[in-house]
Amino acid sequence: MSGLLVTIDGPAGSGKTTVSRLLAAELGCIYVDTGALYRGVAVAATDAGVSPEDPEGLARLLDGLTLELVPGPEANRVIINGQDITDRLRTPEVTMAASAASAHPVVRQWLLDTQRSLGKNNDAVFEGRDMGTVVFPHAPFKFFLVADPKVRAKRRFLELSQKGGAPPLEEVEADMARRDENDSTRATAPLRKPDGAVAIDSTSMTPEQVVAVMARHVRKHLGDVQGKL
Ligand code: DC
Repeated sequence: MSGLLVTIDGPAGSGKTTVSRLLAAELGCIYVDTGALYRGVAVAATDAGVSPEDPEGLARLLDGLTLELVPGPEANRVIINGQDITDRLRTPEVTMAASAASAHPVVRQWLLDTQRSLGKNNDAVFEGRDMGTVVFPHAPFKFFLVADPKVRAKRRFLELSQKGGAPPLEEVEADMARRDENDSTRATAPLRKPDGAVAIDSTSMTPEQVVAVMARHVRKHLGDVQGKL
């Protein structure tokens, strides 16, 4: 396929990453986990002793930083200043720091070009919080993935347990609620349903069922979209 651009926005635990990976495989394109970019900035800030709440410190940090996202079928790898730091992206500390850093316009602006050039040079499924609203407002295929907060927390708890270390479920739930609040009430690019997005509630769906709905939608409308390219 050519000119294929799919965006999936939604809160933590809605299933975006799994669904994006499966949908990209189904459509034969790459997937881009843009949360990994914000997490990469959070790792760089931690290493440099910069607070994720400090916009001036973050601006100075970004001035001298190179950050690259390398898409792969199973995972995206993140390289900062030539070093692969992918294995450090998913700790609870980095998760909260990424949410705090992502509220600052200086960080969002800095990551805009990276994201847009990945979209320009590849057929891709992009997942994040502002894909269909800010980064790719003209994407031909936009989805908004939601799920019940309790179910989202349970999913994240199971995911962390499988990796060998989950805090109590109540703590996962509280962290997620705090992150939902941060991500959807920030002044710049808050999480919201993009205009023209198809909303899917994954509360009682498997990732495969969600992907089937999305792939059907894309295939049904692909002819119209390619006719306009
Ligand atoms: O999707 P994730 O949990 O890996 O994202 C980590 C944080 O990055 C999330 O709390 C908010 C931020 N983020 C964002 O602001 N915009 C995006 N497009 C993707 C992530």
